[in-house]
Amino acid sequence: MNNGFDLSGRTILVTGASSGIGARFGRTLSASGAKVILAARRRDKLEALQTEITEVGGQALAVSMDVADEGSVIAAFEEAEAEWGPIDGVIANAGRNANGHSLELSVEDFDGLMAVNLRGVFLTVREGARRMIKNQDPQKKSGRIVIVSSITAKKVTPGIPAYSASKAAVVQMGKVMALEWAKFGINVNMLLPGYIETDLTADSFKTDSGKMFLNSFPRRRLVELSELDGIINYLCADASSAITGAEFVVDDGQSI
Ligand SMILES: NC(=O)c1ccc[n+]([C@@H]2O[C@H](COP(=O)([O-])OP(=O)(O)OC[C@H]3O[C@@H](n4cnc5c(N)ncnc54)[C@H](OP(=O)(O)O)[C@@H]3O)[C@@H](O)[C@H]2O)c1
Repeated sequence: MNNGFDLSGRTILVTGASSGIGARFGRTLSASGAKVILAARRRDKLEALQTEITEVGGQALAVSMDVADEGSVIAAFEEAEAEWGPIDGVIANAGRNANGHSLELSVEDFDGLMAVNLRGVFLTVREGARRMIKNQDPQKKSGRIVIVSSITAKKVTPGIPAYSASKAAVVQMGKVMALEWAKFGINVNMLLPGYIETDLTADSFKTDSGKMFLNSFPRRRLVELSELDGIINYLCADASSAITGAEFVVDDGQSI
């Protein structure tokens, strides 16, 4: 019996799948039965993950994509659909950081971050939705979009003004999209993870101030990548059919 969590028959594109959270999503969603399209710029890493997933019986396809570049986003969706047909899920996970307090942050870093974290989410999610609207099986109508924001959209932390702004912006943008696309059977939800050790954060928790910050968390620990498995599976599955425009904080209480 399908308990509503089985992802067999779904084809889901994950951006930022070459490392960290996105790579974990690729492994998790394929283990639940989805065909997973792994998108990012570092093709070698994507191909290594594609091989790893395929070797354990999953289905994965590596496609090159720079989320900040509309032409690259469209080309990646074209390539994926030519190989596997219509996509019915998009996880907009690609992101970057730009450290620097507001007085020091350069315009180049501000713009570069927004190009990935805000424009990149807009471009990938919109392209995915356009294709779902055009290609979805009219009986099925169960598109799924998950936007990876962050608790920094809520919890105010000095030193990351552009990052925090981008993560708050995608939450509100996702809610607008959820309203606009409800009639097409597309659900758009936002995931707000707490701090997790990945390439993005590894260095910051080695410093004295990073260790102090970590010790301020209720359980004095980072979130584990595996602790996002349940929520990403749920938000891509039939079981979440009545959930759209919602925010999911998974942070072990870090933002309380
Ligand atoms: N780690 C945390 O504590 C944490 C907490 C909350 C939210 N997040 C969010 O989770 C997401 C994943 O971050 P992570 O922690 O897993 O960091 P990560 O390991 O550094 O992964 C970032 C991913 O984004 C991709 N990316 C960056 N720029 C891109 C571009 N222009 N086009 C396509 N892909 C691009 C990278 O791939 P390529 O370099 O190969 O392109 C990489 O796969 C980000 O949105 C981040 O803000 C992270």
